[in-house]
Amino acid sequence: MPKLSRFVLKALRLPLRVVDNFRTIGVRRAVAIYGERIAEEVRERRLGINTQGDVPGRELSSDPACHCYQVVNYSSLDSVFGYLSIDPIHDVFLDYGCGKGRAVVVAATHSFRRVIGIEFAPSLADIARTNLRRAERHLRCRDVEIVTENAMNYIVPEDVNVLFLFNPFSEHVMDAVLERIRDSLATARREISIFYLQPRDEPNVLAKCDWLYWDCDLPTGTWDQVQLHCYRTTS
Ligand SMILES: C[S@@+](CC[C@H](N)C(=O)[O-])C[C@H]1O[C@@H](n2cnc3c(N)ncnc32)[C@H](O)[C@@H]1O
Repeated sequence: MPKLSRFVLKALRLPLRVVDNFRTIGVRRAVAIYGERIAEEVRERRLGINTQGDVPGRELSSDPACHCYQVVNYSSLDSVFGYLSIDPIHDVFLDYGCGKGRAVVVAATHSFRRVIGIEFAPSLADIARTNLRRAERHLRCRDVEIVTENAMNYIVPEDVNVLFLFNPFSEHVMDAVLERIRDSLATARREISIFYLQPRDEPNVLAKCDWLYWDCDLPTGTWDQVQLHCYRTTS
């Protein structure tokens, strides 16, 4: 079908889809969801970045424990950065599986000393770097780095103390990453916070770590299919 006809068809179907959504999920929730979508679009434009568009896991890796690219919502990021009192001298943020870089860009608009994103897919890491360049004038943190590496092999720097994971991997990859975090703590004992966005149908792997304690759960906007946990270690 020609491109124009496809566009016209899509445009005609849109109001029907919206009405259908209002009927199935209720007016209040539908308004909240559409409101959040509009707010997401506004935030992207304001920062000058493009982090949308899912990428299936099979296009990224043959390892089923490595998950697809899906972007975190701004509401969850606002919860994380609103909860922390960021210390510009000490605090270093790390996003495991940073994808197209939304969490890294938003972290860097706050006054972290350093911000790091780890991403094993070179194509996504390149997009993250482009997004960082585009958002440059909004950034408060100037020391920002995207590392193209498998998180399993990444040695956690001794100054990292805020970790963010939006369901990047599971099973043996998660086990290896938790081991790396513990190694880093053994070398440099310190308090760290781990923010973990866990889909409700996945196990909460952090709950079984006896070296962490659960601090709180934070709001996730209209995303009720996930939980945003904050875990901490004691110093
Ligand atoms: C659900 S997305 C989260 C993206 C980003 N953190 C965000 O919140 O918008 C998970 C990301 O983890 C990456 N990933 C999966 N396995 C990985 C691994 N072993 N090492 C590094 N990155 C990985 C994927 O490529 C994907 O970009």
